[in-house]
Amino acid sequence: MKKVPIEFKLNGVKRRFEAAPNDTLLEMLRDRLGIKSPKTGCDRGDCGTCTVLLDGRTVRACLVLAPEADGCEIETLENISKKPSPLQKEFSKRNSFQCGFCAPGVVLSATELLRKHKKPTRPEIQEAIAGNLCRCTGYSPIIEAIEAASKK
Ligand code: FES
Ligand code: FES
Repeated sequence: MKKVPIEFKLNGVKRRFEAAPNDTLLEMLRDRLGIKSPKTGCDRGDCGTCTVLLDGRTVRACLVLAPEADGCEIETLENISKKPSPLQKEFSKRNSFQCGFCAPGVVLSATELLRKHKKPTRPEIQEAIAGNLCRCTGYSPIIEAIEAASKK
């Protein structure tokens, strides 16, 4: 299959990539560019472990084709973790995660929410992370951490 050259910003750095038309954004990031925070869970848009920010909005990287990222800005947990935010500190303080598999996706969904809504309500928080499945925690420590971070 003929590859297409694409350009984008990845965590603030300009990158070029030769993408096959059927490469997903997740495959490009994890398998070709060494960005390991987005995880392969269901690979069909159900679990949210592959969440990244594309032009500031959360997307499921398993459902986006790499060529669709041409000209876009991609942000992953690697960027956000360079300087831990109050949000990440609250997650850590409260041991919000157990196995941690869902954590990168949850952090990105919560980051998008708090960038857009400084003081989200509990239903807004629940809605923001509704696409991120967590098998371990029952969500309470995650929601409480997001609420606490929004007050800082
Ligand atoms: S791996 Fe993408 S939503 Fe599950
Ligand atoms: S902490 Fe294990 S899936 Fe969320």
